[in-house]
Amino acid sequence: MRRIKLAPSLLNADFSDLRKALSYIDGIADVVHLDVMDGNFVPNITFGPLVVRAVRNITDLPLDVHLMIAHPAEFVEDFVSAGADWISFHLEVTRRPEEVIEVIHGLGRRAGLVVNPQTPAPLTFDYLELVDYLLVMTVVPGFGGQAMIPEALPKVMEIKREAERRGTSLEVEVDGGVKTGNLREVVEAGADIVVVGSSIYAAPDPRGAAEEIRRFLDGR
Ligand code: DX5
Ligand code: ZN
Repeated sequence: MRRIKLAPSLLNADFSDLRKALSYIDGIADVVHLDVMDGNFVPNITFGPLVVRAVRNITDLPLDVHLMIAHPAEFVEDFVSAGADWISFHLEVTRRPEEVIEVIHGLGRRAGLVVNPQTPAPLTFDYLELVDYLLVMTVVPGFGGQAMIPEALPKVMEIKREAERRGTSLEVEVDGGVKTGNLREVVEAGADIVVVGSSIYAAPDPRGAAEEIRRFLDGR
């Protein structure tokens, strides 16, 4: 049985008490998912390197920084200095993903490529040997708390099969609308890493919610 990683997203957490937000997932999460939005590629603005550094200072977990920004290459260094361990960017923002990947790898960090729900899997195929993980969005990026678009899920298998055919292995991360009610589907689709935002942080008992998801992932 493969171990599936849990990546809680802080997007719906209380940013006035990040210590508490991180304490909820302590000993449960594998990695912390941080959603960076620029008000340009997506119609919302969240935070930048300053907040990533603040999170870095209060947790030892790896930081998975999801860049929903129009010019990722220009900011990779700032996020690395702030403490990012994994950095992903969208295929939709660049004609030369290999250049962004090179910048991330040049700074010794894990590189991920992200695709929106409407972007077909084959557009990722040329980069499967270059990245460490592929992030499949199951909501239109921009906001937490949206309902999953299940039609995006079959892309996970499509991408994994092609990676296998090319003799490379990579992790596939699923992000958007994941909750206990659809976790089985997400796991069966082949997810290696699941991002969970509002289903943890908007729950009345965030730690209990995170524990329940962990139990499901471990007890399949
Ligand atoms: C959406 C973000 C996601 C999302 C996760 O643009 O990339 O990480 O907010 O939150 P939930 O789980 O609430 O969809
Ligand atoms: Zn995200």
